[in-house]
Amino acid sequence: MTTTLEVLFAPAEFTLLSQRDLRQTVCVVFDVLRATSTMVTALGNGATAIAPAAEIAEALAIRQRQPEILLAGERDGIRIEGRLTGGLGFDLGNSPREFTAAKVGGKTVAMTTTNGTRALRACAPAAAVLLGSFLNLRATAEFIERQHPPHLLMVCSGTLDQAAYEDVLGAGALCDMVWPQYAAGTVADSAHMARRLFRIEQDDLLGAVAQSRNGRRLMANPDLRDDVAFCVQRDLVGFAAEMGKDGLVRLRALEAEPQKKTRT
Ligand code: MLT
Repeated sequence: MTTTLEVLFAPAEFTLLSQRDLRQTVCVVFDVLRATSTMVTALGNGATAIAPAAEIAEALAIRQRQPEILLAGERDGIRIEGRLTGGLGFDLGNSPREFTAAKVGGKTVAMTTTNGTRALRACAPAAAVLLGSFLNLRATAEFIERQHPPHLLMVCSGTLDQAAYEDVLGAGALCDMVWPQYAAGTVADSAHMARRLFRIEQDDLLGAVAQSRNGRRLMANPDLRDDVAFCVQRDLVGFAAEMGKDGLVRLRALEAEPQKKTRT
């Protein structure tokens, strides 16, 4: 079977995923600033699972069913406050630095963000959905190498309705790592573009990400500016993160994965 490697840049593209047959496709969703980086951090600090909710009302409904879960998320980059929910302020925002072991250890977190959680949900019909971030890039590449899915689709969450520079860089970095596995198959121009962009920017990722639209917004907020440097750290953790068919994001330890294919 011919393999395919493709990147979706903008939210308008992931909203059309319901029209595609994703049954043999593994999606990797990038929201470098900050949703997927934050979820990976939460799992690394002992959160049991994350429930990505597309809307605030959905997160609130999860909390009503499971009062013990934590509510997390942002609108306009800021933790969701009571005025957006009819009273209940969220426990956490979307800053990875908030998701410490003391706060999230042993807890399930229902989370809704402007783009990242919507992108994850749009990929739900795929054979598997992984969370991409610089924080677990190598582990994600290794996971893909072991599974070797025939179709690999990187989905950039974007910022509002636009493509986001930092997500394309993340997707490009992963394209670069899995290139030996997919270069002989059908490689979309979008994958070439993302990889090329990453190669141009790789020596100063922080500089590149800080000048992005969302990077500039975060840098302008004294409470959130350190999130930008946090999210461009490479391989802080050694696990992949996967959204299962039950809709929950969990840690996938590499050791637990059997070697599926021996590459020659
Ligand atoms: C999103 O999901 O749109 C982002 O994670 C926004 C943010 O930086 O909080």
